[in-house]
Amino acid sequence: MSLPVTAKTNKKGHLEIGGCDLVELAREFGTPLYVLDEKTLRDRCRDYGDSFKQAYPNSEIAFASKALCTIGVSKLIASEGLGFDVSSGGELYTVLKAGADPKKIYFHGNNKPPREIDEALAAGIGRFMVDNEQELGQIERAAEKMGVRANIMVRVNPGIEAHTHEFVQTGRIDSKFGVPLDQLDSFLAAVKKCKMVHLTGFHAHIGSQILDVKPFVEETRLLLDLTLKYGTAEIGLGGGIGISYLPEQKPPTIREFAAAIAGVLRGKTEAKLILEPGRSIVGQAGVTLYTAGVVKEIPGVRKYVITDGGMADNPRPILYDAVYEAVLANKAKAEAEEKYRVVGRFCESGDILIKEASLPRVTPGDILVTTCTGAYNYSMASNYNRVPRPALVMVHNGRAAVVVRRESYADLVKNDAD
Ligand code: LLP
Repeated sequence: MSLPVTAKTNKKGHLEIGGCDLVELAREFGTPLYVLDEKTLRDRCRDYGDSFKQAYPNSEIAFASKALCTIGVSKLIASEGLGFDVSSGGELYTVLKAGADPKKIYFHGNNKPPREIDEALAAGIGRFMVDNEQELGQIERAAEKMGVRANIMVRVNPGIEAHTHEFVQTGRIDSKFGVPLDQLDSFLAAVKKCKMVHLTGFHAHIGSQILDVKPFVEETRLLLDLTLKYGTAEIGLGGGIGISYLPEQKPPTIREFAAAIAGVLRGKTEAKLILEPGRSIVGQAGVTLYTAGVVKEIPGVRKYVITDGGMADNPRPILYDAVYEAVLANKAKAEAEEKYRVVGRFCESGDILIKEASLPRVTPGDILVTTCTGAYNYSMASNYNRVPRPALVMVHNGRAAVVVRRESYADLVKNDAD
């Protein structure tokens, strides 16, 4: 099971993370509760930084903030020396508030609103990752008006199919993302006509939760060819390395990933390499705590355990058939003896967190923990059924700090007009 690196079972038989007893955390902060382990998060940042600096020194890691974007988390990530991939004005605002170095901000999006382009220019961000020709024109006009230069990388659609869920594949030919390769010359001709826009290199992103280095190697080769052909200075590989939600999912280590990419580039180019990992930085650092409520048995069919959260705090299973594992924090030493369908409290039959989890016998009040929820859980959470979003706490050395406070009913109605 991929728990945070500090996970252990304490004397009470409770699961502990970052030196904090999860049963105590549930009592103190309530459930559902997102818990993030500072050590795992820092380790992953350093693992990326060190592995790539060793394999290919001219590299930069920009955390894909869409995976988890809060001021506190961004501060921690910035303190590890990482930059940020942002894909909206809101993410840009958040990471700037966290004190991110604007020069290390890469602004993505396939239809950037003009206002957000202005905000990014005013902030002096490092690179616009340009997705299409229309947007190029928009950036040129905005830069001219402001009298500033805009450095851009062009996102190409590499036509590479990665084996992952259809909704998180982005590099195939039929995609809304990126400039198709056969339209690249015309795009580059348009760049040449721009006065304020300077092209630094090519970028691609082939998908997410990819467990194999091969499509990345293929992508790197393609971007290298473009770099050599057009004499550009930077290569952006996107994100996408997967994590182990289940034991049978075996992603490459970051060191292996770095070695495979460096193997393509070393000796062929001096271009700067930029990576944008999201999930593989924060995924494993996070767990979600729920309180088991109703335990329901349909004889001859199955047993259900109904939690106090579900699809609003973790929409990934209903969206992508995403898989998770669970443990009971208050029965961490007990053997798994029953199979349960773990579901949520929301008004949809599809509100399933885990189709079949092997757990010790569950009784109401148990603290059920789903693992690997650090990425794309909080950031994709909703207020469906007008349920306030959970709090997020960061744990370290026996201390828990609130990074996002729990929403209140007042928060839910604060933008409502009579
Ligand atoms: N760079 C770009 C341009 C991206 O679009 C993404 C993710 C990343 C980097 C980071 O990818 P990662 O390292 O996290 O795989 N909501 C989906 C994932 C969507 C990913 C979208 N783009 C999920 O929950 O699985």
